[in-house]
Amino acid sequence: MNTVFQNAPAGEPERQYYFMEECRRLLRQPGQKPLRFCIITFGCQMNAKDSEKLEGILLRCGLKAGGTEKQADLVIYNTCTVRENANKKLYGHLGLMKSLCEKNPERMTAVCGCMMQEPDEVGRMRKNYPFIDLIFGTHNIFRLSELLYRRLLTGQKQIDIWEGTDQIVEDLPSVRKYAFKAGVNIMYGCNNFCTYCIVPYVRGRERSREPEDILKEVRELAADGVTEVMLLGQNVNSYGKTLDNPVSFAQLLKRVEEVEGIRRIRFMTSHPKDLSDELIDVMKHSAKICRHLHLPLQSGSTRILAAMNRRYTAESYLALAQKLRREIPDLSLTTDIIVGFPGETEEDFEATMEMVRRVRYDSAFTFLYSRRTGTPAAKMEGQVPDDIAHARFDRLLALVQKISAEESSRDTGRVMDALVEEVSGDGSGMATGRLSNNVMVHFPGDASLIGKILPVRLLASKGFYYIGEQTDGIGDYAVSGDEEQMVNR
Ligand code: SAH
Ligand code: SF4
Ligand code: F3S
Repeated sequence: MNTVFQNAPAGEPERQYYFMEECRRLLRQPGQKPLRFCIITFGCQMNAKDSEKLEGILLRCGLKAGGTEKQADLVIYNTCTVRENANKKLYGHLGLMKSLCEKNPERMTAVCGCMMQEPDEVGRMRKNYPFIDLIFGTHNIFRLSELLYRRLLTGQKQIDIWEGTDQIVEDLPSVRKYAFKAGVNIMYGCNNFCTYCIVPYVRGRERSREPEDILKEVRELAADGVTEVMLLGQNVNSYGKTLDNPVSFAQLLKRVEEVEGIRRIRFMTSHPKDLSDELIDVMKHSAKICRHLHLPLQSGSTRILAAMNRRYTAESYLALAQKLRREIPDLSLTTDIIVGFPGETEEDFEATMEMVRRVRYDSAFTFLYSRRTGTPAAKMEGQVPDDIAHARFDRLLALVQKISAEESSRDTGRVMDALVEEVSGDGSGMATGRLSNNVMVHFPGDASLIGKILPVRLLASKGFYYIGEQTDGIGDYAVSGDEEQMVNR
């Protein structure tokens, strides 16, 4: 190979910065038209965060943002494989891309993310979609510039999948979707191996970042105008356990709270088995940690929970939910529930319905069980027939929606702080803000409010959101989440 490769630094991230510069040099040659890219992201916040990194790298490589899927010179699909539906969506997009690439062979297509950590899927990509130029997985997204450089230079397809890694490559460029809020990875991977779940196989073993690195990133974000951070991990409650100097998640939260300029802290996701009293205490006394906890239940039947390897019982989950409600009364609780796990009987399903009636979630994501090849549950006996699973799903959804509508109207008439996220594009003059408890409020306002935290009076509940109006907050301002905590301290 040419001297560019001989001269490349071996260490990361220096090596990638070197290839970003080399890509830029290639793309700046006379006669070369600027290349536009488009990133299409499936799945969870981990993938959204990864896509911000991909975008940062591509901009540094000298490509331009703002391409559309139909017209961009490079389209990247950042895939998810948590349920069959996610895979199907990708195939739909690739079908379209196939005909577009036939018309214009100059176009480049990349596929990365969780689905590419499954060897069968990579095989399918190679066989059925030969036009794909770059294939890489979750462990090596930081190497995009090197792969792209090789593809640009040689015109050859690049496939690079790592089975796992203990490497955490920091300090790569990244582009935030919002100026005022940002996701921050605090850990990668998952060690829980819930029997239905593919994530531990495609995201690898759990690795926590050093608290100092996390705090440095949060401080930099605050200096850049970010007021809300979302700490990300598949199981944030087990954060820090494997570090050389172990730190608990609650201790990390306390330190993030000290960062000046940060006004709101959120996190995703909490596993009920690891949620400590220390965390409840820190949340309770915090002025910045939002009044929202996503606490996936998965099933309300202890028998099914054991088969799922969730390592808590229905009773211990309910006791935890009740403790949370008691300790932090204004907390909004949300959850994930799977319907139709192998072996689920009518009685097991009724136990889930009963749990929903007792916990009264503010909202819940309900999923039909999806059989993921390679997971233990895929081979379990008693796979639930589709018609039964669908009927149960409909019953659960109706219950969840009824309770959620009742719960989310409980703050009508109050004044609460909202972080303004966007204004509606239809010219109706309405702004959208997020309350500490994660509920949205629409109120008259313009783009100058975006990124501000304002007191808003909640006038009417529309089921999943409120209609409100801006207020100076005088009088009943003390009922808003943040103020109330300050009064308590
Ligand atoms: N780490 C998080 C969840 C990550 S996946 C946690 O443990 O809570 C997000 C949600 O997808 C899960 O909570 C689960 O409800 C759902 N899910 C995961 N695998 C699934 C499968 N095979 N079928 C249906 N839903 C699934
Ligand atoms: Fe999947 Fe369970 Fe890990 Fe969540 S905790 S990512 S559901 S294995
Ligand atoms: Fe997330 Fe889907 Fe991967 S849920 S971790 S993007 S499989």
